[in-house]
Amino acid sequence: MAGNWKMHKTPAETIAFFQKFRLLVENSGHCEIVVCPSFLSLAAAVEAAKGSAIRVGAQNVAWAKEGAFTGEVSGPMIRAAGATHVIVGHSERRQYFGETDETVLKRTRAALESGLSPIVCVGERLEDREKRRTETVLETQFQHGIAGLSGDEFAGIAIAYEPVWAIGTGKTATPEIAAYAHRAIRAQAAAKYGKTAGNSLRILYGGSVKPDNVTSLMAQPEIDGVLVGGASLDPVGFASIVNF
Ligand code: 13P
Repeated sequence: MAGNWKMHKTPAETIAFFQKFRLLVENSGHCEIVVCPSFLSLAAAVEAAKGSAIRVGAQNVAWAKEGAFTGEVSGPMIRAAGATHVIVGHSERRQYFGETDETVLKRTRAALESGLSPIVCVGERLEDREKRRTETVLETQFQHGIAGLSGDEFAGIAIAYEPVWAIGTGKTATPEIAAYAHRAIRAQAAAKYGKTAGNSLRILYGGSVKPDNVTSLMAQPEIDGVLVGGASLDPVGFASIVNF
């Protein structure tokens, strides 16, 4: 169960969140919990989560370890801050910051080389869905991006299916729509990396996940977890999603 805070919360606000949140998920041993604050709040989150099972992730990672890449943050820097996970290829990065399947692959590989667990995002836009191109888009994103990984590398990632039309819109994909897309992704994974790898792949659903719809989403065997945006900002709300 992962929370993507996007561009929200200062270090002080991060500490305040964890003071409440960690008590509410003390007994949530049924799942892994990851909170992804902004780069600037990573260290505060790691410190505030110390001694709990909550893991901290970044929202992006540079494809190089260091160098002349103004504005980028590298895997070793993220690791040094104490984070263990990273979101790669979020649709907002694809939409507003020129992220492509090729750069998603490079960043994913850099994350793995640094010992980070990448959560790689895929998902179709509304116009793709309306033109019945969902599967084609997912296949392209997989083939041009993720499929460049070796089998060993692939075993280290999770995929998040985030239909762009469901992000921040309040329009959740129905559990059936999400499960259908997850099956398509898993089939591609199995075709490329073998059945065992396909079965072991963890696929999270993201897009307007809320305390009142998480149970029906998680009831789908195809949905292994969720990547939560807006609803992860509130400690009580996110805890009730974790403890669905
Ligand atoms: P919302 O939950 O706010 O729709 O955001 C989903 C998301 O983009 C998580 O990465």
